[in-house]
Amino acid sequence: MPETLTITDNRTGKKYEIPLEHGAIKATDLRQVEVKDDEFGLTSYDPALMNTATVKSRITFIDGEKGVLEYRGYPIDQLADPTSSYLEVAYLLLHGDLPNQAQFEGWRQNIRLHTYVHENIKKFLEGFRYDAHPMGMFISTIAAHSTFYPEAKDVMRPEVRLKQIYRLIGKVTTIAAFAYRHSKGLPYVYPQNDLSYCGNFLNMMFKTGESRHALHPTLERALTLLFILHADHEQNCSTNAMRSIASSHVDPYSAVAGAAAALWGPLHGGANEAVLHMLEEIGSVEKVPQLIKDVKEGKRRLMGFGHRIYKNYDPRAKVIKGLADEVFEVRGKNAKLDIALELERVASEDDYFLKRKLYPNVDFYSGLIYEAMGFPLDFFPVLFAIPRTAGWLAHWQEQITDPEQKIVRPRQIYLGERRRTWVPIARR
Ligand code: ACO
Repeated sequence: MPETLTITDNRTGKKYEIPLEHGAIKATDLRQVEVKDDEFGLTSYDPALMNTATVKSRITFIDGEKGVLEYRGYPIDQLADPTSSYLEVAYLLLHGDLPNQAQFEGWRQNIRLHTYVHENIKKFLEGFRYDAHPMGMFISTIAAHSTFYPEAKDVMRPEVRLKQIYRLIGKVTTIAAFAYRHSKGLPYVYPQNDLSYCGNFLNMMFKTGESRHALHPTLERALTLLFILHADHEQNCSTNAMRSIASSHVDPYSAVAGAAAALWGPLHGGANEAVLHMLEEIGSVEKVPQLIKDVKEGKRRLMGFGHRIYKNYDPRAKVIKGLADEVFEVRGKNAKLDIALELERVASEDDYFLKRKLYPNVDFYSGLIYEAMGFPLDFFPVLFAIPRTAGWLAHWQEQITDPEQKIVRPRQIYLGERRRTWVPIARR
């Protein structure tokens, strides 16, 4: 059976044989389909890139129908092993294999060496109003780092790239915690490098008078797991932004700031906050049937349910649900969790949701956990961006070292006016 596709152009009767590779055709092979020699040739129209693969990637695999998510071939539930750490998973995403002990120690040490930010960053943050959104501060501060490390623009040198990877993974928690402390008017807490990645972050966020924030192992573990679950998700909106920006060979600070900006939108990283607003609005378990009725009548959406790719239980949501129980055991039960559980129970037995394959996604329980841990709602997108930095950087490396990639430059179908005649303003 030939691995080709035959296209017949009914305008000319001509036939074209297009090769298939990995179950896809190359969009540029369509260009040979033309009526006249001076035409550009056939192009494909795909708003929102719904059916276009823009990369050959070896980082993350998703099977949305079966509810499978793997980083470098490792299923996400295995990476959520009780002994796993976020930095190990970041290493896996960036290097392709899990580190052995010596590789891990070296990796962790290099990241720890880069957790401090330049002292001028404190002055930079002081320029923001007390009520500035933490994600706005986070994005701008990351972008500002390109001015501190001008050598970072030398992106084709592997050793330069590796240095920026250490710096970015090391500094994102510090930048995030400093943004939070600024909004609270609290003094900045410097990194404590004998703590774990997540332990250090929690200490920089919440330490007050004591010499060190009293870390609860369950909460530290919960944050580690949430960071692992959010570390990558292949070609989503922000990763596509990262690749597109990086394709111009700009420095990675500018590219990560752009990816984080894409993540901030309510259709992407903002859904967990929307879930909490919805649970607050419902108020009690007794009001769940009314909400479900409204959803089924098309009056509103059940936030934290459904996914463009997963048409089965989001594998991340499965891990997070177990985590929620552990966190609430430590923090005390929260009425919103009962409402969430009831919503899930009712939806899992209702034809409306079953027919449409609507299951809880990663955001259904993550916001509840973050809130129970003491993070403010507007900080949730920052908590998404911190771990996703490793994923963005893995895609950045893959993008700029792939010989098949070029600067991203899609085409358009132009439907506007042509060849109009200029009339001076006085005569318009
Ligand atoms: N509540 C109720 N109905 C829903 C929901 C929902 N959350 N999601 C989809 N549907 C229904 C739609 O009304 C539609 O029904 P219809 O066929 O009768 O018209 C059907 O399911 C298909 O919906 P689409 O909008 O076509 O699905 P799409 O794949 O485009 O949307 C999305 C996916 C945006 C995630 C959607 O499910 C949604 O809005 N969910 C709520 C927001 C949310 O939780 N987002 C977080 C996603 S996870 C993440 O980004 C990290």
